Amino acid sequence: MKSPFDCLILTFCLFVLPGHFAALGQTNWTFTLPESIEAPINSTVEIPCTFTAPDVPGKYDLTWYKYGSITHEEVYNSDNQSRVHPDYIHRTFHVGNGTNCSLTITGVRETAWYFPAIRNDSFNISSEQKPVKINVTGCTNRSTCSSWSFTFPRTITALDSSCVEIPCTLTHPANDMDFNLVWFLRMPSGDVKVYDNKTRHNVDRKYVRQTSLLRMRRSSCALKINNIKKDGQYYPGINQIINAYNLDGKVCTVTVSEFPQKLEITGTENLKESIAVNISCAINHTCGSSPPELQWNIKNDNANVRNVNRTRGTWTVISEISYLPSSKDNNSPLECKATFQNGVTSVQTETLLVEASADPNVSVITISVLAVIACLVLIVSLVFIYRRTKCFHASAIGEVGESPELTYTTLNRREVAEDYDTLKFDNRGNAATGNENDGPYYENIQL
Ligand SMILES: *[C@@H]1O[C@H](CO)[C@@H](O)[C@H](O)[C@H]1NC(C)=O
Ligand SMILES: *[C@@H]1O[C@H](CO)[C@@H](O)[C@H](O)[C@H]1NC(C)=O
Ligand SMILES: *[C@@H]1O[C@H](CO)[C@@H](O)[C@H](O)[C@H]1NC(C)=O
Ligand SMILES: *[C@@H]1O[C@H](CO)[C@@H](O)[C@H](O)[C@H]1NC(C)=O
Ligand SMILES: *[C@@H]1O[C@H](CO)[C@@H](O)[C@H](O)[C@H]1NC(C)=O
Ligand SMILES: *[C@@H]1O[C@H](CO)[C@@H](O)[C@H](O)[C@H]1NC(C)=O
Ligand SMILES: *[C@@H]1O[C@H](CO)[C@@H](O)[C@H](O)[C@H]1NC(C)=O
Ligand SMILES: *[C@@H]1O[C@H](CO)[C@@H](O)[C@H](O)[C@H]1NC(C)=O
Ligand SMILES: *[C@@H]1O[C@H](CO)[C@@H](O)[C@H](O)[C@H]1NC(C)=O
Ligand SMILES: *[C@@H]1O[C@H](CO)[C@@H](O)[C@H](O)[C@H]1NC(C)=O
Ligand SMILES: *[C@@H]1O[C@H](CO)[C@@H](O)[C@H](O)[C@H]1NC(C)=O
Ligand SMILES: *[C@@H]1O[C@H](CO)[C@@H](O)[C@H](O)[C@H]1NC(C)=O
Repeated sequence: MKSPFDCLILTFCLFVLPGHFAALGQTNWTFTLPESIEAPINSTVEIPCTFTAPDVPGKYDLTWYKYGSITHEEVYNSDNQSRVHPDYIHRTFHVGNGTNCSLTITGVRETAWYFPAIRNDSFNISSEQKPVKINVTGCTNRSTCSSWSFTFPRTITALDSSCVEIPCTLTHPANDMDFNLVWFLRMPSGDVKVYDNKTRHNVDRKYVRQTSLLRMRRSSCALKINNIKKDGQYYPGINQIINAYNLDGKVCTVTVSEFPQKLEITGTENLKESIAVNISCAINHTCGSSPPELQWNIKNDNANVRNVNRTRGTWTVISEISYLPSSKDNNSPLECKATFQNGVTSVQTETLLVEASADPNVSVITISVLAVIACLVLIVSLVFIYRRTKCFHASAIGEVGESPELTYTTLNRREVAEDYDTLKFDNRGNAATGNENDGPYYENIQL
């Protein structure tokens, strides 16, 4: 049958051109998957999948991932089921063999993208670039998923051990009034229920006392979490299927910060003495129903305190006071202190700069005082001149005969003269009795 020539060719082919032959027969790695699949919520869906490979691996591991913007979560792992995300455990099955990589998911509840990867020790090939979208449709027999929506902020930064209020509104099908509101927290080990409007029994023990619904209205799903300690991703819903995460992949990421927001003092620019101004102190927070308390270090009888809803879970509490600048306050510290629910305080200090102004009242007083002084000086001078003139008269009379009208000034002068004489006398006396030295007294002191 086989000619030696054939054999030669075969040998040539086998040993000389193996690479060439292999290249001819080789197909690249490819995955064949649909672009998207529509599936009713809570139904079982099969994602058809086949692949081609250079040579079909004898033994390989098949992994299916749920596409994520940061990391892809494993939803099926033929080698190790414990690596599968808890939300998918016991819900995914590989239905094919060989090059059939189809996956079945039961109870689908989220619209998401999925892709397979095939791996053995020497390769790991995935279809990451072309994932399959599963469109989840329909919610109940009475309505479709699009009749449900939950609106809430995507991120909120809250102060450690303080409170956070996640604003939230919901729309529901007009004919579906009999629902129960719940909130979930994403957890690597499977999401937990942190709030249930009907019962506390199936709520995670750690959250029972911490969570409450803010407004008891059908259209409001705002959640208050007290004493918040850890970062977390929260989402509202009415059950495991109809919820913000399943329907739209939406969560509210609460970031817990160790430090309060910055306090802001305004209205202290260009202070002028005696011109009243309104100064205010403001701080952002996340606890609309119990805002931090603001205190000033200057006396104020009627601070106007407002708590402003800034949307997206942020509130601003503002304390406004009327302040009459005084030059006494110049360079003194102005302090505003915020005390949070958890006892944490934050202080903002500013140095007051008060411009002393030329006050019209002050100058009137000054001028009046100066005028009065000037008048007094004038009067005194006049009296003095008058008296001097009279004095001359008196001395002239005194030389002739003793006059009872001797002025005080004259009398004084005489007394001084007498004293002087006495002193002189005493000095002499001292010199005579205690000292032979006839020199002046001051020399005696020097000795
Ligand atoms: C296989 O991939 C290479 C490059 O990655 C490409 O040049 C070649 O044409 C592909 N072959 C087939 C059969 O698709
Ligand atoms: C899934 O939804 C996308 C848009 O969200 C749409 O383009 C696509 O056609 C849908 N696929 C199916 C199978 O309905
Ligand atoms: C989802 O389907 C299962 C049975 O397949 C059923 O027991 C369960 O109640 C359904 N859940 C919802 C929320 O419809
Ligand atoms: C992985 O698969 C390739 C292709 O089938 C094969 O050549 C290789 O031996 C396999 N490696 C192991 C460790 O099984
Ligand atoms: C399976 O995966 C888990 C989690 O990644 C790991 O702890 C465990 O060691 C793995 N088991 C095996 C048999 O590889
Ligand atoms: C894969 O295998 C399953 C079960 O044997 C079969 O139903 C399905 O049609 C196969 N898919 C493809 C794409 O071959
Ligand atoms: C795949 O499974 C089918 C039955 O589901 C079987 O007939 C076929 O031989 C299997 N193929 C391989 C390559 O194991
Ligand atoms: C295989 O590839 C996928 C997607 O490219 C990647 O996420 C995964 O970590 C890889 N696995 C291993 C074991 O390298
Ligand atoms: C929902 O609709 C399906 C058919 O679409 C029906 O079989 C089922 O009984 C309905 N369930 C309820 C609770 O109405
Ligand atoms: C929560 O329950 C109260 C009474 O228990 C009810 O009035 C309110 O409408 C419910 N709110 C929501 C959003 O379910
Ligand atoms: C509070 O937050 C708003 C934005 O929500 C910002 O414009 C404002 O400056 C902040 N105020 C303070 C006092 O930090
Ligand atoms: C705060 O504002 C948001 C958005 O405007 C609104 O949804 C929320 O109900 C408001 N909260 C209160 C307590 O008024």
